[in-house]
Amino acid sequence: MSPMCMYSAVDGFATDWHLVHYGSRAMGGTGTIMIEAAAVRADGRIAVGDLGIYKDEHIEGLQRITKFIREQGSVPAIQIAHAGRKASNWVSGAESKTLFPEDKDGWEIIAPSAIAFSPESQIPKEMDLEEIQNIQNAFADAAERALKAGFELLEIHSAHGYLLNEFLSPLTNKRTDDYGGSFENRTRMLFEIIEKVKKVWPSDLPIAVRISATDWVEGGWTLEDSIKLSRKLSETGVDIVDVSTGGSIPNAKIPVGAGYQLPFASAIKKDKNNSVFVGTVGLIDSSKQAETILANGDADFIFVGRELLRNPYFSLNATRELRAQNIEPKPYEIAFK
Ligand SMILES: Cc1cc2nc3c(=O)[nH]c(=O)nc-3n(C[C@H](O)[C@H](O)[C@H](O)COP(=O)(O)O)c2cc1C
Repeated sequence: MSPMCMYSAVDGFATDWHLVHYGSRAMGGTGTIMIEAAAVRADGRIAVGDLGIYKDEHIEGLQRITKFIREQGSVPAIQIAHAGRKASNWVSGAESKTLFPEDKDGWEIIAPSAIAFSPESQIPKEMDLEEIQNIQNAFADAAERALKAGFELLEIHSAHGYLLNEFLSPLTNKRTDDYGGSFENRTRMLFEIIEKVKKVWPSDLPIAVRISATDWVEGGWTLEDSIKLSRKLSETGVDIVDVSTGGSIPNAKIPVGAGYQLPFASAIKKDKNNSVFVGTVGLIDSSKQAETILANGDADFIFVGRELLRNPYFSLNATRELRAQNIEPKPYEIAFK
């Protein structure tokens, strides 16, 4: 299951919604459940309803979810994130708008450079070196809490125009210090975070990094950059690159269609100089489509998003379709004997 924000947390705390929502997908046979972007700091939330992992008190509610997921035979995973210049919004259903510090539930936002996401957005405060260190420590603290909460796979969110993606893209990072300019400098923040996370996250549990393989904008981050980055991620000990696209720049022209992001994942997977595991995501909503991607060697993992919102039993149905095998959650089995 691909990470999907539910905007249903209270002060970052998981609620009954999260247990039932993720629990249903675990009962539905989903192999790995990636819990939505959990904010590493309160100001890193997209909106006040975001899940948080910025307080030790958040651990208990998350633990309840990982325990249930594991009991259903699924693997609990979590994405940790900071929304950067895309933080501080009001979100309700499909509607959203930027909030300013003076608005109720709004706050001051940060980014590598003081460039607003859109004309309607807040101008973020450019991070100084002390703030860069603080954020790195916040990611490491969040990783430690994720481990305590029982997660077995950790994903660092470096995609979709959020904070770490903002450091990577030359469109959003105009810094002139060690964290901006060259490819090496723009990727420094991500690698320093990985280094700190690895000090608290055990080496026998996997780490994933979600990237946007392209900004879909001229002069932005490209597939070539992503191939280069993925090689370096693998060398650093990252196990999985979860390949998404876009999100840095509003109104980028994106040719959305079935499996539209697959060519990016496939190019990283087929890179002969890299053996990192590769995940693909984006409009993959049938078992046969997913199986073909794996069989063709275009990716190692399929992340399913919205189809799993519509159909929590997607994986059980896929097993029936592909293997002519019926698998039900254990307590149901008596009914189909
Ligand atoms: C409601 C919703 C919330 C999302 N939240 C996140 C998130 O927290 N982190 C993330 O990396 N992607 C997020 N995404 C993107 C999905 O993980 C996924 O990449 C995207 O929906 C494309 O896959 P799909 O076509 O299977 O839905 C979200 C998507 C949706 C629809």
